[in-house]
Amino acid sequence: MPTPPDATFTAGILLLFLLVTTNAATEFEAEALLAWKVSLGDPEALSSWDKVTRLCSWTGVACNDAGRVESLQLRELGIAGTLDELNATALPALTTFDLNGNNFVGSIPASISRLRSLTVLDLGSNAFNGSIPPQLGGLSSFVDLRLYNNHLAGDIPHRLTRLPRIVHFDLGANFLTNPKDYLRFSPMPTVTFMSLYLNYLTGSFPEFVLESSNVTYLDLSQNNVSGPIPYSLPEKLPNLKYLNLSVNAFSGQIPASLSKLSKLRDLRIATNNLTGGIPDFLGSMFQLRVLELGSNLLGGAIPSVLGQLQMLQRLDLRSAGLVSTIPPQLGNLGNLSFMDLSMNQLTGVLPPTFAGMHKMREFGAASNKLVGQIPSALFTSWPELISFQAFGNSFTGKIPAELGKATKLGILYLFSNDLTGSIPIELGELVNLNT
Ligand SMILES: *[C@@H]1O[C@H](CO)[C@@H](O)[C@H](O)[C@H]1NC(C)=O
Ligand SMILES: *[C@@H]1O[C@H](CO)[C@@H](O)[C@H](O)[C@H]1NC(C)=O
Ligand SMILES: *[C@@H]1O[C@H](CO)[C@@H](O)[C@H](O)[C@H]1NC(C)=O
Ligand SMILES: *[C@@H]1O[C@H](CO)[C@@H](O)[C@H](O)[C@H]1NC(C)=O
Ligand SMILES: *[C@@H]1O[C@H](CO)[C@@H](O)[C@H](O)[C@H]1NC(C)=O
Ligand SMILES: *[C@@H]1O[C@H](CO)[C@@H](O)[C@H](O)[C@H]1NC(C)=O
Ligand SMILES: *[C@@H]1O[C@H](CO)[C@@H](O)[C@H](O)[C@H]1NC(C)=O
Repeated sequence: MPTPPDATFTAGILLLFLLVTTNAATEFEAEALLAWKVSLGDPEALSSWDKVTRLCSWTGVACNDAGRVESLQLRELGIAGTLDELNATALPALTTFDLNGNNFVGSIPASISRLRSLTVLDLGSNAFNGSIPPQLGGLSSFVDLRLYNNHLAGDIPHRLTRLPRIVHFDLGANFLTNPKDYLRFSPMPTVTFMSLYLNYLTGSFPEFVLESSNVTYLDLSQNNVSGPIPYSLPEKLPNLKYLNLSVNAFSGQIPASLSKLSKLRDLRIATNNLTGGIPDFLGSMFQLRVLELGSNLLGGAIPSVLGQLQMLQRLDLRSAGLVSTIPPQLGNLGNLSFMDLSMNQLTGVLPPTFAGMHKMREFGAASNKLVGQIPSALFTSWPELISFQAFGNSFTGKIPAELGKATKLGILYLFSNDLTGSIPIELGELVNLNT
């Protein structure tokens, strides 16, 4: 179809104008990135970053339709250096900046907050130090902020809790502290993933976390948070699927309200100071995949209702002060691949029903008061078994010859028992074995 000549002419002028302005901007972007590259010592990984190659085809660089740098994806390229020489003002269209898994050092410069369009910032797994610049809290388009696994110290800036669109918030594995009070912290209603694990958080359960009502994944593990697990937690955070409060100083009972967390898949509250026994309601949380309660002061018995958790893959009841026999019902846990019952005061036998746990890979019942024979059927029914630890009990009888059928077995600890007979010849077939 013929186009009127006027229109073509106007369109031509407009195109020319766009090309000129875009070229100038692109020039600034290229210049800024080249200057940064020089400051990084011209890494081999960035060899395509030069004046002859088109900016938009440089390694890790992606441009938007207007030809402006939209994303820098430089994950795991072995780059070392700092962000000090990056001219953030020259990259106004950058939305994604990913330096995860390199060797960056030094502080995160406040000037990063000039990247006005930034929605994703991943500086995880580097060696950034210093404190988190509060100016990051001014980047209102942030959706995803990952600063985990660095050497960041100081208080968590309260401004970060006011990011209006943030969904993924990960400050784990740093040296961060919380302020004496959280008065200036705000609830983060848009966040679904919240991780502050392995930092120096103290005091009771942080109120702003409790009020971040949309959280589905919460990891506060390996801090020094104390006081009770809040009774209101399930009401405030009803969408939780993953809850990790392990390795803290929580005390009191496992709150009965937890039964209301109908979507919870992983419950990790090991290594705290929890008391009051293992509550029966846990046996009705049918969606649980992971249940870690070990290294607490729980006491009491192993409830037989735990045998109803058909989805359960991991059960840690190690060193929890448990005084009971082992309920045979646990043998119904057909998806269980990890079970640790060691370092309690369990009595009676290892139930023969355990042969029903066909996915078992790692089994531990060491340092208890168990008696009787180790059921030989375990070793014919557990084809995936790699570790079996039952030392420090009072098992009797012969070491089962069926052990030879557990062909993947790599760790077998049976010492300090009253077992008799010789080591079965079949064990010679186990190429991975390390006893
Ligand atoms: C950074 O980039 C801006 C915009 O392109 C430019 O005006 C400024 O001079 C640059 N700053 C430095 C220190 O190069
Ligand atoms: C950060 O690390 C660099 C060396 O990598 C060091 O020179 C600097 O003093 C450190 N800064 C802080 C605040 O620890
Ligand atoms: C909560 O998360 C869902 C999806 O995970 C999202 O659709 C919803 O907008 C979020 N609510 C808020 C207040 O951000
Ligand atoms: C944990 O916090 C308590 C106060 O709640 C404090 O006495 C203790 O020293 C802290 N422990 C560590 C390892 O920081
Ligand atoms: C805490 O638990 C979550 C969910 O089960 C898991 O993904 C995460 O790796 C755990 N954190 C640590 C530090 O192990
Ligand atoms: C746990 O409680 C015991 C005694 O009640 C106390 O000595 C210990 O410091 C507590 N541990 C933690 C991590 O809070
Ligand atoms: C194992 O879990 C799956 C879902 O992941 C479930 O459908 C199945 O019934 C479980 N099997 C057993 C034997 O419990």
